[in-house]
Amino acid sequence: KTVDWNPEDATKRGYDHFMLKEIHEQPHAVRQSIQGRIPDSREYVALDEFEPGEFDDVRDVQFVACGTSYHAALYARQFLLDRGIPSNVHSAGEYATNPPPLEEDTLVIGVTQSGETADTLASLRYAQAAGARTLAVTNVVGSTAAREFDDALFIRAGPEIGVAATKTFSSQVVTLALLSEVLTRDRTGSYSDQLDTLLAGLQALPDQFESLLGTNEVSHLLESYRGQDAYFFIGRAEGYPVALEGALKFKEITYEHAEGFAAGELKHGPLALVGPKTPVFAVFTGRNVEKTLGNVQEVKARGAPVIGITHQDHDKVTAVVDDVLPIPAAAPCLRGLLANVQLQLVSYHVADALGRDIDKPRNLAKSVTVE
Ligand code: G6P
Repeated sequence: KTVDWNPEDATKRGYDHFMLKEIHEQPHAVRQSIQGRIPDSREYVALDEFEPGEFDDVRDVQFVACGTSYHAALYARQFLLDRGIPSNVHSAGEYATNPPPLEEDTLVIGVTQSGETADTLASLRYAQAAGARTLAVTNVVGSTAAREFDDALFIRAGPEIGVAATKTFSSQVVTLALLSEVLTRDRTGSYSDQLDTLLAGLQALPDQFESLLGTNEVSHLLESYRGQDAYFFIGRAEGYPVALEGALKFKEITYEHAEGFAAGELKHGPLALVGPKTPVFAVFTGRNVEKTLGNVQEVKARGAPVIGITHQDHDKVTAVVDDVLPIPAAAPCLRGLLANVQLQLVSYHVADALGRDIDKPRNLAKSVTVE
C-alpha cells in the first residue's frame, strides 16, 4: 500500500533548489500515486484501502485542508461535482473554529501532505467527535493524520523538502480523482461513465509532465514581466484552484503581490486594480473557454498583459493573449495539473531571478503545527 522512501530523494541531486527538483519529480510522483491502482482493462479502480461498498451510505463530502492542500481539495471537488456527489471545501482554520453542521453520513476528508497541520487535525477531530466518517489523505505514513482517523489514503509522492508544495499537489489531485470513482461506485453501484477517460488520462499524465518539463518555455517571459505592481491569476472550473495555487506559489517564493480569482469574480472588485503593470495569467482547461476569453478581453481593455496557459493548438486563446505557456493536450479534467506545472516554473524562475530563498521562504514553515 505504501512506497518506500528513498534516502536519495532527500538530496538535491544537482538541482539548485529542492523546489526545482521536486517540480521535475512530478512524472515520478504521479506514477507512484497511480501504481497498482489502475488495472490494464481500466474497468475499475484498485484502491485496496477500502472494501467495496464501504462508502455506500455517504451522502455528502466535506473537505478540510490548508494552503496548497486546500487547492488540491478544491480541484478534487470538481471530480465530485462532475459525478453528482455533493461536496464542500473548507479552509481548516475556519472549520476548526466555526464548524458547519455534521451528520453521520457525511464523509470528512482531511487533505494534508504532512499529516501534521494543526488546523486540519483539529477539523478532523471535531468531525470524528460529531460522529462523521473521517478520512485522511496524506503523504506521510505514520503521521498523526494517518494514525488517528477512520481511514488513511496515501498519495505516495515521496518526501517533499521545499517549503512550497509542488509534486504533492499533483499527487493529491491524482489520488483524489481515483477516490472520486470509488465514491461513485459505492453510492450508485457502478463507476461513472467518465471512468475510462479519467483512467486513460491519468496513465498518460506522467509522460505529459515529462514532455512539458523537457521544454523551458517560461524563461523568455521573465524579462518582459519583471518589476510589475502585482500579478493576477484567473481560471474557471479546475482552472480556478490552479489560479489560486499559481498565485499562492508566486507570493510565497517571490514575495511579490499575487492574487488568484475565479475568472467571473474579476468584475466584482479586482478589476479596479487591473492596468498595464498587472500581468494576468489566465488558465484555460478547455471548459468555459469563451467565458474566460471574455474576462481576458476585460483586462486587456485596461491595458493588462495576458499570459494564457493553454494546450498548444488552441487558436482561439492564442489569438487573444499576449503570450502563451503551452501545455500538452491532456484529458480536459487533468489539464489543470499541467497548467499548474507551468505556473510552478514561472514562480520558481521569477523567485530565482530575484535571488529569493526559494526552499525556505521568509516567515513560512513546511508544516504548521499550531492553530
Ligand atoms: C504550510 C506550508 C504549505 C502547505 C500547508 C498545508 O503552510 O507552507 O506549503 O500547503 O502548510 O500543509 P499540509 O501538510 O497540511 O498539506
